[in-house]
Amino acid sequence: MPSLRSDLSAGQGIRPSAVGSSGLVTGLRQAVAFHRRPLSTLIEAQRVGGDGFPLRTLAGRMWVVASPDLAAEVLHGPPGRYRAGSANRRILPVLPHNTILTLDGERHRARRRVLAPLVHGDSLAAITPVVRDIAAAEIAGWPTGAPFATLPRTRFMTLRIAVRLLLGVDGRAAAGELERHLRRALHPYAMLAGIDRLGWLGVASPQAAARRCRAGFALGLSQVCEARGARRGDGPPDALDRLGVPAGTPPRPDDAQIADELFALLLAAHETTATALAWALELLANDPAATGALATEADAERRPLLDAVISEILRLRPPLVDIVRELAEPVRLGDQRLAAGANVLIAPPLIHRCEHREPDSFIADRFLGQRPNPRTWLPFGGGDRRCLGASVALLELREILTHVVRNFTLEPAGGQREDVRLHGTALVPACGARVTLHPR
Ligand code: HEM
Repeated sequence: MPSLRSDLSAGQGIRPSAVGSSGLVTGLRQAVAFHRRPLSTLIEAQRVGGDGFPLRTLAGRMWVVASPDLAAEVLHGPPGRYRAGSANRRILPVLPHNTILTLDGERHRARRRVLAPLVHGDSLAAITPVVRDIAAAEIAGWPTGAPFATLPRTRFMTLRIAVRLLLGVDGRAAAGELERHLRRALHPYAMLAGIDRLGWLGVASPQAAARRCRAGFALGLSQVCEARGARRGDGPPDALDRLGVPAGTPPRPDDAQIADELFALLLAAHETTATALAWALELLANDPAATGALATEADAERRPLLDAVISEILRLRPPLVDIVRELAEPVRLGDQRLAAGANVLIAPPLIHRCEHREPDSFIADRFLGQRPNPRTWLPFGGGDRRCLGASVALLELREILTHVVRNFTLEPAGGQREDVRLHGTALVPACGARVTLHPR
């Protein structure tokens, strides 16, 4: 089987699905390796392939862009050339097709305009005390003096915050209920819905399973939002307000568009932030000097070290392994010709290693007194699809980490640093970021 590189020198360009049979075996092996050891697989492939190289993933074949210049070319390319919506549908086939994450073109821009006020200005200021209160209430229930996996706890906390921000509903019970429905909707069988060839299975197909899961989510969402009736409508608008659901009422369970958008927003908002928080706790537990310095700074109005630490956490452990685009037309990227329909993957973990000393080390003050360079710091993606909730995520990280270091010292649970595993498209700590908290 000729390598992809020799395909290219023959001038054929990468096609979306050009893989032979032995290529299939090699590709499958690479896909499994990427799943099990995402970082080392990417770094090794970059060592061999340089600034651009092919990668088989479980979502199909990708062309990985590993240099800041090429990444910028993709993220800031001409309108319509690089499609994020269709690429997101490929990597997360369980996502409905009519959401901010999965739409393209004018329909995407219109949806973004509708939702943007949720995460800016007054709304952001109004959620600060909400984040503080939920963080304090949740962390009060965390164990002390014994090791525990923080990731499940940070997941629940960020879901509770997202439920409050997006649905206007608060409380552990509502978040618990939504968590159950989300978990069901992310059933591994439904995740196979992107494989069109399985459609012949009819009602037993993953596509049908995904539809049933989403209908279940819509019903659950409507029930959870009954509590919205009690809200007087004096707070900042939530996502349901922005999407036109009348104030104080739950969305109708048969309104698939509202349920689908909320499904996508809840997923985008909580898993990423939860992963970043868990890594933050793992990294700080292994750096008591930085944790102590953060505690000293915690009561100051300006917290420059905290901002630097958060930037470094998101550099070293970006929660998402990929930012993806599908080509609407043939493109030359570097010395590579790619055909229309090919998928391009920008891997923040690779871009984040560029232009830094000791790129694989956590250096708490690496960004002290300077903003990260947007060319080489891409945890939130970029261009017109940059993460809509970046400012909310940063606010959550600032408030929650301040609460933790002010009240606890942290100790790593084991002698070894945790490996990185792929969970969907998230780069999660292999053991859930196990740490021990001790009250100060
Ligand atoms: C540390 C936490 C987070 C990280 C690392 C993160 C990362 C990302 C990334 C990499 C993208 C894709 C950007 C691209 O394609 O260029 C994205 C998209 C998005 N994120 Fe986030 N995210 C986080 C938190 C949040 C939160 C809290 C919300 C909501 C409140 C949110 C809402 C969204 C939405 C709606 C999109 C789709 C934007 C679009 O396609 O126009 N994210 N995020």
